[in-house]
Order: sequence, then structure tokens, then C-alpha cells
Amino acid sequence: MKASKLIWKNGEMVPWAEATVHVMAHGLQYGTTVFEGIRCYATHQGSAIFRLKAHLRRFVESAKAYRMILPYKFEELAAACRRVIVDNELSSAYIRPIAYRGYGSIAVDPQGKCPIDMAIAAFEFGAYLGSNAVSQGIDACVTSWHRLTSATNPVLAKAGGHYANAFLIAAEAHANGFGEGLAVTAQGHIAEASASNVFLVREGILFTPPLSSTILGGITRDTVFQLARTLDLRIEEQVLPREWLYSCDELFLTGTAAEITPIRSVDHIPVGDGQVGPVTQSIQRAFFGLFDGQTADRWGWLDWVQ
Ligand SMILES: Cc1ncc(COP(=O)(O)O)c(C=O)c1O
Repeated sequence: MKASKLIWKNGEMVPWAEATVHVMAHGLQYGTTVFEGIRCYATHQGSAIFRLKAHLRRFVESAKAYRMILPYKFEELAAACRRVIVDNELSSAYIRPIAYRGYGSIAVDPQGKCPIDMAIAAFEFGAYLGSNAVSQGIDACVTSWHRLTSATNPVLAKAGGHYANAFLIAAEAHANGFGEGLAVTAQGHIAEASASNVFLVREGILFTPPLSSTILGGITRDTVFQLARTLDLRIEEQVLPREWLYSCDELFLTGTAAEITPIRSVDHIPVGDGQVGPVTQSIQRAFFGLFDGQTADRWGWLDWVQ
């Protein structure tokens, strides 16, 4: 991670090295944090935060699921996200807002004795899954770890504690030499990757699991839905059998960090002919076109920093 100069912390801009947390903070001890991952792109018309409102909406919803009342209003959070870009003189960046139960009580339910602290960092960020991942694809595996279930956690929330599960999925895949791990639901259906959603293509139709397949409702996933409509691609949201990972024509991941990353094999079985397929390429073109002006932003997704 490349450090920037300043981090927004509880309403103040503080030096990167001083944005620290007490070791007894509740969020560190028990994972009671909620966060977002947002990209700011250097577009042909200046820096723009991609789908800022959608990310902040999910952030607020995640906090609500964990019974956190955020001490800042929506517009204050949006302004702080823009400010960390400007004050750090960044043109493109990854923005990481986080809210956490701070220091105050060791009780699992601190009953209001821990403050809700917040920070927003922004820093330079490149390709998440490796420099050639977006153009050439990655090799993935299905991991022995399943995705969390809605019976144990509000899985639609982007909460720090859930990423202990994501870590196990990613780390098992990496330990076995794969670029990313895919997790199934408790019932064995396709859920998602450690930190991205999954789409597959069969006979020209795009398929992706529904929210009830215990996935995170990705903003990039929603972006692909809307782009697919403009490309006249049929898209089906349905429970997907694991076997389709091995018999589909194309497979790709979507996420703020992963962007649109093709998968070329699963468990050493090639996806299609092992090359990046035409549907994936057209989605990639439409997606990256938003940032170089090739795709008109008819949705107002680009939130200009200045
Ligand atoms: C578990 C998980 N699923 C899916 C995604 C993709 O979500 P988004 O497209 O909003 O980044 C992410 C990343 O935020 C994630 O962490």
C-alpha cells in the first residue's frame, strides 16, 4: 500500500502515520467494523469518484445492520471522500471509508460504551489481481471454505468481521497456486469470490447468482446489469449450480478492486477455450469506456471531485 499524506479521521485531516486505533478498540477485538471500497478514476475530464452515492448508501446500510449510528450525514461523508482525493493531490485512487466501534468496553455487546469512530483514507491503487489479470484473466479454484450464511451474519453488509471468511477463501486459493478463490453457498451453489462477484456466460446469456445466494450486492455487479442492457445482452439472476463453473463459455469477476477480471480456468479446467471471450470483452469495453469517454455516463455515475 502506498501511503498518502493525510487521512480524514473523525472529521479532521490527520497525517497518515497518526491515523491509529487503540489496541483495545472493539472493532479490532471483535471485527465490528463496516467499510467501503471505492475507486476514483482519472478520466478524460478530470478525477471522478465512481458511483459514490451507491457506495455510501451501502455503507450506511451496513452500519445499520450492525446497529451503528454513523455520526456524520451522507453529504458530509461524500464531501470527505472528495476531500481525501483533493488534499492528497491524487488523480486516481482507492478510497476506504471505515466506521468502527472504538475503545471503551471489552464486552461483546458494549451497549453504547464504545464510540463509533470513522476514518476515510485514499491512496494510489493499481490492478488488484495482478497487472495482466484484466487483459489475460486469472486461474481460480473453488475453495473448501464456503461463503458466510445469512443465518450467521447479515451477509449483504460490508462488515470487517465477514472478511475473516474472505481471507480464508483467498489465502487457501493463493496457497494452492491460484489467483483467486470462489466460494459456494452452504447449499453448494455458486456464491462469489473472496472480494468480487461472479458472472458466467452460456450460449450468449449472462448469468449471475441472486443476492439470496449469500453474496455482497456489488456496485460493479449492478453496473454490469445496466451496461448489459445497453449492449442488448440478456442477463439472468438465478441460483447457479457449481457445475456451470466447469461448463460455461465465459466467466468473469466484478468488483471495485477487481474491475472486470476474466477467469480462464477453474480447478485447472479451462473456461471455454481458455481465452477472454467476446461477451466479457464487450462488458470490459463498456465499463472502461466510462472513464475514457467511449461510454456515455447516462446514469450520472461519475462524481466529479472538483
Ligand atoms: C465479498 C465481496 N463481494 C463482492 C464485492 C464487489 O463489490 P463492489 O462491486 O461493490 O466493489 C466485494 C468488494 O467490495 C466484496 O468484498
